[in-house]
Amino acid sequence: MKKNSLFDIENQVIVITGAAGVLAGNTARYLLAQGAHVVMLDLRRDAVEQAVAECRENISPRVSGYAGSVLEPDTLQDIYARIMAEHGRIDVLINGAGGNMPGATIGPEQTIFDLDLDDYDRVLDLNLKGSLLPTITFARAMTQQHSGCIVNFSSMAAGQALTRVLGYANAKAAIENFTRWMAVELARKFGGNIRVNAVAPGFFIGNQNRALLLQPDGTPTPRGRQVIAKTPLGRFGEPDEICGAVHYLISNAARFVTGTVLPVDGGFSAYTGV
Ligand SMILES: NC(=O)c1ccc[n+]([C@@H]2O[C@H](COP(=O)([O-])OP(=O)(O)OC[C@H]3O[C@@H](n4cnc5c(N)ncnc54)[C@H](O)[C@@H]3O)[C@@H](O)[C@H]2O)c1
Repeated sequence: MKKNSLFDIENQVIVITGAAGVLAGNTARYLLAQGAHVVMLDLRRDAVEQAVAECRENISPRVSGYAGSVLEPDTLQDIYARIMAEHGRIDVLINGAGGNMPGATIGPEQTIFDLDLDDYDRVLDLNLKGSLLPTITFARAMTQQHSGCIVNFSSMAAGQALTRVLGYANAKAAIENFTRWMAVELARKFGGNIRVNAVAPGFFIGNQNRALLLQPDGTPTPRGRQVIAKTPLGRFGEPDEICGAVHYLISNAARFVTGTVLPVDGGFSAYTGV
């Protein structure tokens, strides 16, 4: 057996949504450096084009990118056809697009009765349908190949009541259920080589939560301090600390692992805070 071949992902075709963002973007760069072909997909055209150009220059030419929304089935179908024309297969889908929206957060002075239902719907759509639609588009290739891996992004908000972020929490709880449901569906109907898992990041500084967790001078906000106090490792995550968990889940090292959610959270989910 080749040394470390359990983790060999060279030549795999990996589609990553939200790839111009912090966590999916770091993951994309890491997987590219491991020899995979990476297809980046993001809503923001400039950002995805810039990310692809940077990756080509600094990491590997095996990268391409598309601008489009994970909420538009026709766009996804078009991207799927283009990827299949170029690569002929899709080995991995990473559903990294997602996140909270300011309007869907209940402000410190507000209560549940101030909830903006339109923003609630938008957050549910992005985080739940935004993983469902790419899955039912790109997993088509996996069902034809009888192999493939999908990784979804959950959150600490899925399992415990995280104050203020109702829609996001509801959607991420649904993502964990969706992960288990789809793991069962794809394995039972299309064979034992298609796996679906999720990572549940703890608190990483991203574009969406920066203002919630950090003050302009870089020190934690009161909410940021609460988070660190409930994180046994005593800090926020670094963006590249998600990469190893994703690598494990998509590799042969996890070939008997499906329907699971892997926390990458510095111990947040293990700790009551007391
Ligand atoms: N940062 C954290 O602490 C944290 C914690 C738990 C879970 N997560 C989850 O991890 C994932 C990545 O989060 P992040 O912090 O890197 O966020 P981010 O905002 O840096 O990245 C999200 C990316 O998704 C893209 N996007 C948004 N709507 C889209 C759409 N309709 N179609 C295609 N792309 C779209 C954005 O343009 C952005 O580039 C999200 O699902 C988030 O909920 C993040």
